[in-house]
Amino acid sequence: GWRTPYLYLFQGFWCQPAEIQAISTFQNHFQAKKSDVFVATVPKSGTTWLKALTFAIINRQNHFISSKNHPLLSFNPHDLVPFIEYTVYGKHDKIPDLSNIQEPRLFGTHIPFDSLPNSIKDSNCKIVYICRNPFDTFISSWCFANKIKPPHLPTLNLEDAFEMYCNGSVGFGPFWNHMLGYWNESKERPKNVLFLKYEDMKEDVHFHLKKMAEFFNCPFTLEEENEGVVENIIKLCSFEKMKELEINKIGTFGRNFENKHLFRKGEIGDWTNHLSPSMVDKLSKVIEEKLGGSGLKFRMK
Ligand code: PPS
Repeated sequence: GWRTPYLYLFQGFWCQPAEIQAISTFQNHFQAKKSDVFVATVPKSGTTWLKALTFAIINRQNHFISSKNHPLLSFNPHDLVPFIEYTVYGKHDKIPDLSNIQEPRLFGTHIPFDSLPNSIKDSNCKIVYICRNPFDTFISSWCFANKIKPPHLPTLNLEDAFEMYCNGSVGFGPFWNHMLGYWNESKERPKNVLFLKYEDMKEDVHFHLKKMAEFFNCPFTLEEENEGVVENIIKLCSFEKMKELEINKIGTFGRNFENKHLFRKGEIGDWTNHLSPSMVDKLSKVIEEKLGGSGLKFRMK
């Protein structure tokens, strides 16, 4: 059967050789600025959405939300908030000079907290993290893996993918360590690490947008609220809106897949259409065993 490309255990998490190289470069050379903002996630947890929201909130003075030329209308969020381990360091033979990028610099990353460069941990920069219930995250990544696999390879079957997910041997896994790293840090340094959940965002995106803006030290003014700025950001970044944009229908994300695969269903609870009762039982036990003591809880559907 088809499996994810060879993964290696690197600093306690699983990743591909090219990623190890890019992450090492990042660890050795990245110099954080105190104005930097990082969007950190486990893959398929809401990265694209959170990147869009972060970009829209932080740049709303120079890119008006209701402008017909807003960058989010013609660029995919991953092009506006590049992954440090793919787009920035993953593609260059030489180390790129990031010192002249306009501040605040916005980056994305799937790297676990412990493996971030010290200059980030020691600086005052902001990290916004989103996680998603593991059932939906698993189904989302399984569907995605099959969508982007080379056509000559067979389909990755659900059972094999599920075993790997539960063992933690998937890209940037195990998921529980990833979540706990940022979860614990958000408790210790709430001004620097904001911990969000996909399900909470879906339930009350207005509230969480205000929370994000406060966290980034750019709270919405009363005037902005009255003008509908918050509502307009929500609309601009909504699943329905983003999925229908030309750039997200036809573009590629500079890697090996098309942007359209980043927008599938955008729902909570799609796992109920895929997982057997014994699978549900197994993953529930993993979650309880690994996260039960942490206080981190999820809405599953
Ligand atoms: S990636 O490759 O790690 O960046 O993927 P990521 O964006 O983390 O996860 C993709 C899932 O997020 C859904 N999605 C959204 N949900 C809500 N709002 C918006 N704007 C949005 N954009 C993408 C996407 O549909 C994937 O979830 P599933 O369950 O597969 O639909």
